[in-house]
Amino acid sequence: MAAILETKGIEKSYSSPHGKLHVLRGIDMRLEQGEMMFITGRSGSGKSTLLHLLGLLDTCDKGQLFFAGENVTKLNDRKTCKLRNGSIGFLFQFYNLLPELTVLENVTLPGLIGKRKKVTQRAKELLEQVELVERMKHFPHQLSGGEQQRVGLVRALINEPALVLCDEPTGNLDEESSEMVMRLIRRLNKERKQTFCIVTHDEIIAREGNSKLHLRSGVLHSPAA
Ligand SMILES: Nc1ncnc2c1ncn2[C@@H]1O[C@H](COP(=O)(O)OP(=O)(O)OP(=O)(O)O)[C@@H](O)[C@H]1O
Ligand SMILES: [Mg+2]
Repeated sequence: MAAILETKGIEKSYSSPHGKLHVLRGIDMRLEQGEMMFITGRSGSGKSTLLHLLGLLDTCDKGQLFFAGENVTKLNDRKTCKLRNGSIGFLFQFYNLLPELTVLENVTLPGLIGKRKKVTQRAKELLEQVELVERMKHFPHQLSGGEQQRVGLVRALINEPALVLCDEPTGNLDEESSEMVMRLIRRLNKERKQTFCIVTHDEIIAREGNSKLHLRSGVLHSPAA
């Protein structure tokens, strides 16, 4: 069976005043349906860059990306949006909530765009699980960093995507709140077989996945390597 996500030789550079910055130098990875994968790496090693490529939020310079066996490296904008909205949830490292929308509006928006049913009910259930129902009518600037992070997670989950990409889902949370977030992720992974790829600095949460990779010098290493 095809992996839900597979990359072959992905490379990505940025231009900088000091010349070309080769952030990703050949990423080969395979994420199976139902897997929970953790990616660790030092600050600046390219974890967010990689996750953005996997989430079709950016394009690579070289290499190929396959989603459920389909080559999606060079999809047109319409197909990319459809795939992202329907099948990929993304929790941004810096949340990216829309400032003029309330919590409830922020998290239901992808569901309304995708014309999903029972979006509000599902949003409330998910907000309940991350203890944010009482903040439903708040605007992002009226939330703490950790609360915005949890709102970002609910938004990523609202369309029940097959693949959820999380950039530091517990980066701003205390131990108890981290456990609450991980409980939700674990449950969705187990019960709904949703696939998770999680970037983290948190060695404790990284212990529990099916697989763990470390990004160093632009390539992925298994921890033993
Ligand atoms: N748009 C950009 N233009 C130029 N350089 C960039 C751009 N985005 C990222 N970089 C550089 O690419 C490198 C990787 O950045 P990235 O955000 O992927 O790191 P990271 O591993 O997610 O770090 P952190 O753990 O701090 O979040 C960094 O050195 C960064 O300065
Ligand atoms: Mg990052």
